[in-house]
Amino acid sequence: MKKLLVTCGHLQRHIGRYDAELRSHGIEPWVPTLAGQQFDAAEMAAMLPEADAAIAGDDDLSGPVLEAGVRGRLRGLVRWGIGTDNVDKPVATRLGLPVFNTPGMFSNEVADLAFGHVLNLARHIHKMDREVRAGRWTRYEGTSLAGKTLGVVGLGGIGREICRRGAAFGLRVTGSDVVPIDPALLAAVGAVQQPFETVIGQADIIIVACNLTAENTHLFNAEAFARMRRGVMFVNVARGPIVAETALIAALQSGQVGSAGLDVFEVEPLPADSPLRGFDNCLFGTHSGSSTGEAIERTNRISVDIAMAMLGIGADRLAGWNRVA
Ligand SMILES: NC(=O)c1ccc[n+]([C@@H]2O[C@H](COP(=O)([O-])OP(=O)(O)OC[C@H]3O[C@@H](n4cnc5c(N)ncnc54)[C@H](O)[C@@H]3O)[C@@H](O)[C@H]2O)c1
Repeated sequence: MKKLLVTCGHLQRHIGRYDAELRSHGIEPWVPTLAGQQFDAAEMAAMLPEADAAIAGDDDLSGPVLEAGVRGRLRGLVRWGIGTDNVDKPVATRLGLPVFNTPGMFSNEVADLAFGHVLNLARHIHKMDREVRAGRWTRYEGTSLAGKTLGVVGLGGIGREICRRGAAFGLRVTGSDVVPIDPALLAAVGAVQQPFETVIGQADIIIVACNLTAENTHLFNAEAFARMRRGVMFVNVARGPIVAETALIAALQSGQVGSAGLDVFEVEPLPADSPLRGFDNCLFGTHSGSSTGEAIERTNRISVDIAMAMLGIGADRLAGWNRVA
């Protein structure tokens, strides 16, 4: 039997659905107990050499971990989801280790979550809920969305779905990207592309939706927050390290940032002593933008298909999927 290591929590929970199918092809699923969000470097380096292929989530897939895997049995890797910032892609390429991800699986879901943050922050829904539960009847003055300007940083699959929702709420939608995006694609979702400084300088609401790269780590630093309109709403559904959290905290303290919705953090889970917890104009998530039953099932299916193809079952289909290394 070939061994398929599954470390991604979303697939681990539903692996029973695929067990018989995998075994009928001579593949044994291996599902180690996952305590937190991901396995660390030592855990991955210990497991990967024993697996022929792996389906991983946010786990540590740095260079030495991949090298350890390839010294053993590992012949292919699926990164469940979109972000591949946890994978050392140059090392994987050098090792000849094929790595695939599953892009486009949950653009709608992450965009929905981003707008959940926007609506909650604009209308203080989370505060009203707390007040009613405490037996009080506090009424809050919110902010109207129609006519305001939305700035979306990152105009890929998720960013464009965010634009579409923004336009439907009557927002003026602008966005920035490091590559030119086809204006027709943007027009279809009611958006126009502008330079980063223009977007963040004009927006009443900024939503971060780009992939994390070495170049955009701490893109949102003290200087960027200072360029924004005073009282801006800031939402990050992309990756924590794109935002310098100490700069965001200072901007929240000074009122430069009026409210923030954060699904992702520099360190996850958010440390217990993070000063962010003290702001009631902040709304937090648990890095769960893709977490709907439908999106998880869709992504599980394709991840299993890719892994089976890498292990020789339907290998001709590999060309149709997204190889990142
Ligand atoms: N919160 C969650 O649970 C969750 C779920 C899925 C994905 N994500 C994150 O969302 C990211 C985006 O997903 P996607 O499907 O839209 O990816 P995508 O690859 O379709 O689009 C990302 C876009 O960001 C652009 N970009 C890169 N650097 C930029 C910068 N400095 N400024 C502006 N744009 C920049 C890229 O050119 C690209 O067009 C993923 O890489 C992942 O990190 C988060």
